[in-house]
Amino acid sequence: MKKQPIKPFYFDITEEEIESFAEQSKTILKSGRLILGENTAEFEKAFAEYVGTKHAIAVNSGSSGLEILLRLKKAENTTVLVPTNTNFATVAAVLRVGGQVQYLDMDETTFAPSLQMVKEAVEKGASPNLSGVLWVHIGGVISPEFPQIVEYCRQNGLFVLEDTAHAHGSQINGVQAGNLGDGSAFSFFPTKVMTTFEGGIITLNDEEEDYIARSLRNQGKRGMDFGGLHTDFGNSTRMTEIHAVLGRIHLAKLPQMLARRQKCYQLITASLREAGLSFVSTDHMDNASQYKLIVHVPEGKTAKEIKSALAEEDIFLGGTVYEIPCHQQPVFQGVCQGQNFPRAEYWCPNHICPPLTSGMTDEEAKMVGEALVRHLTH
Ligand SMILES: Cc1ncc(COP(=O)(O)O)c(C=O)c1O
Repeated sequence: MKKQPIKPFYFDITEEEIESFAEQSKTILKSGRLILGENTAEFEKAFAEYVGTKHAIAVNSGSSGLEILLRLKKAENTTVLVPTNTNFATVAAVLRVGGQVQYLDMDETTFAPSLQMVKEAVEKGASPNLSGVLWVHIGGVISPEFPQIVEYCRQNGLFVLEDTAHAHGSQINGVQAGNLGDGSAFSFFPTKVMTTFEGGIITLNDEEEDYIARSLRNQGKRGMDFGGLHTDFGNSTRMTEIHAVLGRIHLAKLPQMLARRQKCYQLITASLREAGLSFVSTDHMDNASQYKLIVHVPEGKTAKEIKSALAEEDIFLGGTVYEIPCHQQPVFQGVCQGQNFPRAEYWCPNHICPPLTSGMTDEEAKMVGEALVRHLTH
């Protein structure tokens, strides 16, 4: 019997959950309360409890969450440090609010910048107008240096915002991603470890910021006012009630989905360790989202040939994090022009991310680990 292909993405939903989603959607349609109703409120409450923050504000995407955070910090006309190794959305958010970006290079052990890189950027005076850092926990990996980076930034009067698009459930030193800095934005894009179709959520602890963030997602209308008074320069970035229903279903099973991903991570990396292959480890963390397992491509091999060889065995690799750093993206031409970020330039095209989903069996995870060893070592 031909084995099933091992795919990079899996939408984790049972028949029962589909039934429940359909029932709750019917109730919403019959009620006529399509936005900012009890499902959004309940989802926000449960998500804040999960992350451990005082507040959570649901929005229509991770991108709009980032933009709201930067507006809360008044980042317009300031410079924000951003890793060049990130998704388009992180850099775009700073530019959209009228800020400037100063890129940071990355360290291959975390795929994030190091404390030293942050210090150098701050101390060499990247800009007299530096307001803070928009940090990214790439693949759900929290750098072991991150708590020190937050401390260093606070001592220097800089904010640290977390782009937690990859980091649902990641935790270090007893604190969850999303509660480690001065505000965070998660994404619920369908490929993430949990989804709301499209969507995002902001987590933060400051009451005034919570109030303004709720205004910013609702055209700048404060206090759930649906009248005509616009106080803040907001946008229409609310989450719908239907999206929140899926969010509640997925959040309830997040621990279970993460446990499965963790088991698959352990099985795949056991083979890699045994063969002496190098990858980005999450062993220093309490928990990890395991959104992406980042495997370094050894010298003499290319990511492309390994991807093709695995595809021949019906093992399909998903997107990397990231293949092209932001400073090399055509759309961001002119940002930090003329600067080089050599580690990102080397490692972005020289890593692979094997399939790692909550839909994988132990058997499949072992097959992935063994296939990686075969193609990375010979
Ligand atoms: C690191 C990072 N930040 C932000 C985003 C934006 O999230 P969304 O697609 O929900 O706008 C993504 C999305 O894929 C991402 O990977």
